Amino acid sequence: MAYEVTATRRRPQRFEDLVGQEFVVATLKNAIQSGKIAHAYLFSGPRGCGKTSSARILAKVLNCESGPEKAPCGHCNACIEIAKGSSMDVIEIDGASNTSVNDVRQIKDEVLFPPNAYKYKIYIIDEVHMLSTSAFNALLKTIEEPPPYVIFIFATTEIHKVPATIKSRCQQFNFRLGSVEQIKDLLAKQKMKLCIGLQKNPQEVSEMHILFLIKLQLFLKDILLLIKFGINWV
Ligand SMILES: Nc1ncnc2c1ncn2[C@@H]1O[C@H](COP(=O)(O)OP(=O)(O)OP(=O)(O)O)[C@@H](O)[C@H]1O
Ligand SMILES: [Mg+2]
Ligand SMILES: [Zn+2]
Repeated sequence: MAYEVTATRRRPQRFEDLVGQEFVVATLKNAIQSGKIAHAYLFSGPRGCGKTSSARILAKVLNCESGPEKAPCGHCNACIEIAKGSSMDVIEIDGASNTSVNDVRQIKDEVLFPPNAYKYKIYIIDEVHMLSTSAFNALLKTIEEPPPYVIFIFATTEIHKVPATIKSRCQQFNFRLGSVEQIKDLLAKQKMKLCIGLQKNPQEVSEMHILFLIKLQLFLKDILLLIKFGINWV
C-alpha cells in the first residue's frame, strides 16, 4: 500500500517533469500540437521509467479544458480528476488481471458510450502483453476503427510479447532509462522532500549507488522507494 502511495505522490504531473524521456515527450508534443492525435498509443520500456505517468499526462493533455494544443493547466476538473485517478473518462485497466476475451468484450461494449464529461474517453491498459491471443484479436477491430472519442494507451515492459498486428496499429514510443546524471539530479531535487523517518540529514546519493541500483535493474520507482525507507548507503 505504501508503495502505491509513494508512486502516486512522486508521480510526474507534466511532461517536463519526466526524466530521460525527452525524445518521447518532444515527439508526442509535436504531434499533438499539429493536430495529429492517434487512436492508439503503445508505450514500452523498462519497469518504472514513466510509462503510466506519461499515459496519465497524455490523458490530461487531451482532456484539459485548455488542451490539447497547450500544456495541461493542472487546475481544471479534468486535470485534477485525472491526477487523482478518479476520472470516469480515463479508465485504467491492469492487463495482467484482465486477460480474457470477455474482459476485452466488455471494453468493446463500453466504448460505444461517449465520454461522460470530457472530450475523450481514454483507456490506459497496463502490462498489455499479458492479454491472451483471443483477447488481442478481439481488440484489433476496435483499435482499427474506434469511435472518434476513444483513445487507447497501452503500456508494456515486454514489447516483444505484443503481437505485430497490434503494434502496427499503434503509435509506438520506446521509453528508456534516464542517465545516471539525470537520476542524480532528480534525487537531488527531491532530497529535501525525501527527508523522511528518523534521519536528520538526507543522504548523499553517489553516482556509484545509482549505477549499482541500475545494475540491479531498478529504476526510479524503486530507487525512490528505497530511499524513502532509508536504505543504508555504506
Ligand atoms: N521518467 C521519470 N521521471 C521522473 N520520475 C519517474 C520517471 N519514471 C518513473 N518515475 C517515478 O516512478 C514512479 C512510477 O513511475 P510509473 O508508474 O510512471 O512507471 P512505469 O513505467 O509505468 O512502471 P511499471 O513498468 O512498473 O508500470 C513515478 O511516480 C515517479 O515517482
Ligand atoms: Mg506502469
Ligand atoms: Zn486542465
